[in-house]
Amino acid sequence: MKRSIFIRGIGFVALNYSLHPLLTSCSKEGLMNPNEEDPNLNPDNSTNEYIDLDQSMLQDISINTFNLEVTKNQVSIFGNSIDAYTINGVVPSPTIKVASGETLSINFKNQIDAESIIHWHGLIVPPLMDGHPSLAIQPSDQYSYQYKINQRAGTYFYHSHTHGLTGKQVYLGMAGLFIVTDEEEKALNLPQGDFEIPLIIQDKVIVSNTIVYSPSQMDYRMLGYLGNTILINGVPNAYKKVKKTTYRFRILNGSNARIYQLVLGQNSPFTIIGSDGGLLESPATVTSALLGTGERLDILIDFSKIEQSEVVLYSDTTLLNLGGGVMAAGSSSQNTRFSLLKFEIENDTSISPYSIPNTLSHISYPDISQAQISRNITLNMLIGAGHAINSKQFNPNQVEFEIPQGSIELWTYTNSSNTAHPMHIHGVQFRVVSRSQSSVPPWETGLKDTVLVLPNEVVTVLIHFNAEPGLYLFHCHNLEHEDAGMMLNFTIV
Ligand code: C2O
Ligand code: CU
Ligand code: CU
Repeated sequence: MKRSIFIRGIGFVALNYSLHPLLTSCSKEGLMNPNEEDPNLNPDNSTNEYIDLDQSMLQDISINTFNLEVTKNQVSIFGNSIDAYTINGVVPSPTIKVASGETLSINFKNQIDAESIIHWHGLIVPPLMDGHPSLAIQPSDQYSYQYKINQRAGTYFYHSHTHGLTGKQVYLGMAGLFIVTDEEEKALNLPQGDFEIPLIIQDKVIVSNTIVYSPSQMDYRMLGYLGNTILINGVPNAYKKVKKTTYRFRILNGSNARIYQLVLGQNSPFTIIGSDGGLLESPATVTSALLGTGERLDILIDFSKIEQSEVVLYSDTTLLNLGGGVMAAGSSSQNTRFSLLKFEIENDTSISPYSIPNTLSHISYPDISQAQISRNITLNMLIGAGHAINSKQFNPNQVEFEIPQGSIELWTYTNSSNTAHPMHIHGVQFRVVSRSQSSVPPWETGLKDTVLVLPNEVVTVLIHFNAEPGLYLFHCHNLEHEDAGMMLNFTIV
């Protein structure tokens, strides 16, 4: 394995947790804080060297008829072994790239020792294609998906959706990007080829060079499973060589529970061009952007504007209130700062500058004045059972809402817990109308399928339900919350 000659300049040091007897797994393995330089205290990585992102296993699938075969494999990820659930042999799962309007035939083969099913997060597909957990297939069985891509270009996502096992199966590898292109987007000539980079951000618990998934009861009920090591496209300590020009990064938070706030070193600006459901109408330049689990961001970084020869992409949530339940007392494991990816900027001035278009797309969506139905959704706790929606937890035979096809609705989430919940709805793309603790940030002005609801926050979204009639889900995309039951059915009728 070829390694970078750069020794990491920013070390990690373990946070000092006050111990709660139920939280020993967190306290040993909490995320480390890179602000305090101590390169020796990232004990579970085999190397303190940076690894070139180009060495990731990411593979593309750009045909319309293909197999996705999941198998249990012992995989070595840069010196760390994992009993992975690989799809077509790789982790993360292959990146599917298709054009809007195409029809796909996908044969999902389950070769692991548990039931499983795949969901196409953000895609609007018929109910039998949506990967509802009731459709899960047994080991050695196959599920055949056939659907047309009936929506705009965007960075979507596919992953396991097996009830009670989604967290485990995603963590062990069953998650990948699903990129849809269309003519409107192509006409913009956004950075492409070597200048268009997918970034799947995941945090893993690595102990003695082994990647483990073993959440405790408390992880499930309160926090979700937080890791101590960041992988970008499966690569720990990742760096990427870039030229002095503008790059497009399609970023997926593919973590089970961790929320990231992206910032560049020296607070360098970057430009948001898209989110969950594709391009924004116009670009927005920011110095930070929040990314909950399951959410995507499409950003441009202009490295010609950065004077240093390197710049680090961090996550810095130290000043946010993301909650974290019991663990928040004495630690800040959801609220911390660490590096995600280091860019080394090559001093090549032969590249011509790129200018960002002023208009990116047109989003046609019903107006808020057309909303016919308002629903209140409370995110709360059931004593002893954990997080719930409207005081209920998932029951496969129970339907929370029957929604007439075509209905335009306002859903207001009220988070009465002290934990952030990224709330996802199947079968729709929606718009964020308002937040009680801030204005709607620039990266939430496009179409969304997942919205972060902070502790004690009230968030209203406008939703047009025009998918085919049948059974769908809405749930928290903290996967341990979801597996513990923070998920309800709705039907379109
Ligand atoms: Cu990405 Cu129902 O999930
Ligand atoms: Cu989904
Ligand atoms: Cu949640």
